[in-house]
Amino acid sequence: MTDHELITLAENACKNAYAPYSKFKVGAALLTSDGRVFTGCNVENASYGGAICAERTAAVKAVSEGAVRFSAIAIANAGGGLTFPCGICRQFLYEFAEDNFRVILKDEKGELAVYALEELMPHGFRLSE
Ligand code: THU
Repeated sequence: MTDHELITLAENACKNAYAPYSKFKVGAALLTSDGRVFTGCNVENASYGGAICAERTAAVKAVSEGAVRFSAIAIANAGGGLTFPCGICRQFLYEFAEDNFRVILKDEKGELAVYALEELMPHGFRLSE
């Protein structure tokens, strides 16, 4: 699974986004350490605080299928451009992230921008540390 393939899956996942309130449709494609890919989209609710981001949708799908080690995630929004994960999602992913976990985005020019989770989420919280 290449980074380009993963971002394409994230872009496709935007199509299922349920975002009638923000109108901001997000898709994610999560690569797990055992080589599986789980996609997700944001799912909003009339009780606004109940909204779930695309990244956490993908992560919860993975964990619920027994995949608890993550290698990388690609994130896209329907309008294009960089979509950095929110703070809650950074912490949520940190829980399951390999040391070299990567966050793959695509900029307005179509160039991939790849970040280490460590640089987006330094000193994340784990009970085991
Ligand atoms: N959202 C995501 O799905 N992922 C992000 O990284 C940022 C925000 C969603 C949450 C909400 O449904 C909408 O985008 C606007 O915040």
